[in-house]
Amino acid sequence: MFSMMLMLACGASETETIAPDATPDVVVEEPAVEEEAAAPADADNSAVVAKYTATCAPCHGETGAGDGAAAATLEPKPASFADASFWAEHDDAHVMKVIKEGGASVGKSPLMAPFGASFENDAEIEAMIAHMKTFQN
Ligand code: HEC
Repeated sequence: MFSMMLMLACGASETETIAPDATPDVVVEEPAVEEEAAAPADADNSAVVAKYTATCAPCHGETGAGDGAAAATLEPKPASFADASFWAEHDDAHVMKVIKEGGASVGKSPLMAPFGASFENDAEIEAMIAHMKTFQN
């Protein structure tokens, strides 16, 4: 009788020992990397886009292709920022100088007027140049 109980007890404890390991998979919470710095640039960008449309698009065109309403009467034609070769041939420092001091400052047409007074600082012009580059196709 006693040995029977012992066997049962033994059997029971064996069953427990063999029970599958129910440890759940460890879920590691990753930090939300995607939330990095999108908002401030976007907020700035709308002002830059508005400035481009008001100040540059009449000659350079809404999509930067050099085909604004005034372009027909201009010779030479306004530069096309949609043309990847423009960006291959002109670095940011050159473009910055043209925007600030006008075409004549780099040996280009004075029809490209100086627009330095339209910008608060170089950072604003850099933002404009970044916007102009988005026209590339
Ligand atoms: C009145 C028309 C007119 C407006 C407005 C105008 N541009 Fe231009 N832009 C021109 C013309 C014309 C040229 C071509 C000059 C040349 O090739 O000699 C030019 C050329 C340029 C060039 C290329 C210069 C180079 O070295 O090839 C840049 C950069 C430029 N413009 C930027 C701007 C920006 C930015 C604005 C707005 C802030 C603007 N332009 C507004 C007429 C205009």
